[in-house]
Amino acid sequence: MTRFQDKIAIVSGGADGMGAACVRRLAAEGATVYALDVKFDTACELADELSAAGARVTALQADVLDEAQFRSALRAAVRAESRVDVLINVAGGSAAGMIADIDLGVWDRLYELNVRSTLIACQEAIPAMRLRGSGSIVNMASISGLRGDPGWAAYNSAKAAIISLTQSLAWEEGLNGIRVNAICPGPVASQRMLATLPPEAFAKYDEACALGRMGRAEELAEAILFLASDQASFVTGASLVADGGLTASTAQPTDFGEVRRAELARRRGQAVG
Ligand SMILES: NC(=O)c1ccc[n+]([C@@H]2O[C@H](COP(=O)([O-])OP(=O)(O)OC[C@H]3O[C@@H](n4cnc5c(N)ncnc54)[C@H](O)[C@@H]3O)[C@@H](O)[C@H]2O)c1
Repeated sequence: MTRFQDKIAIVSGGADGMGAACVRRLAAEGATVYALDVKFDTACELADELSAAGARVTALQADVLDEAQFRSALRAAVRAESRVDVLINVAGGSAAGMIADIDLGVWDRLYELNVRSTLIACQEAIPAMRLRGSGSIVNMASISGLRGDPGWAAYNSAKAAIISLTQSLAWEEGLNGIRVNAICPGPVASQRMLATLPPEAFAKYDEACALGRMGRAEELAEAILFLASDQASFVTGASLVADGGLTASTAQPTDFGEVRRAELARRRGQAVG
């Protein structure tokens, strides 16, 4: 497929996980891609690898928490190409804490990392998109933004804010030819998840999904690129859930009990017991 031939794309959080998977897919489909990340070395390695194979990928160094640095990196990319067609805002993160006693510094930082960074990137890309009368933005939300969980209010409400921002932006920019959508992944076995979660948590996430497994970054990139592409020409203001069926059930992972756990183990050819 060459849905992004001759398109200019910027991906924040493009060095690792779902962002890197988007960079790879965009490059494979003909886009000129800017992979912006605080992990500049990793972004450079990715850009070098893909450029050596004939793609056009440039690493951009920026911490999305540093407004001046972030804006200047985005401006450099837009200026270099005189336009931007696709913006994918992936950079983000989570932090736990009960509402009653969560530290306000942690709360503010999480909103800056997820919500304010998305706003800043949109502010930088939209003027260039307006000039051409077209553009597509995909913002990284989460199924966490659709529900509440004890101990995750900062993350859940920040992702809910991204969904709301996406809807308002879709209306503000619809007549300018700019589509704005959000993606709501379920559990995805990204580098961050692999590095931070204990092994038993992975089994719980597998059980929680109707498909019996967590998602892969590449699968989420497919859903994100659908939204970013012209195939989604009548899709704007939407939040696409890609969660292996997790939110299709009202039960909690722990509610499924031994029967489903045993069935999953049996299908994996593991001993049950
Ligand atoms: N993994 C999941 O299960 C899951 C589910 C739903 C939503 N999400 C969201 O997806 C996004 C990416 O998650 P992932 O699991 O692929 O993580 P990841 O850590 O594998 O990738 C995130 C990328 O963003 C970059 N990044 C983080 N903070 C940054 C900053 N301040 N400035 C610039 N770059 C920064 C990281 O360096 C990394 O390259 C996040 O917004 C996360 O909230 C993840």
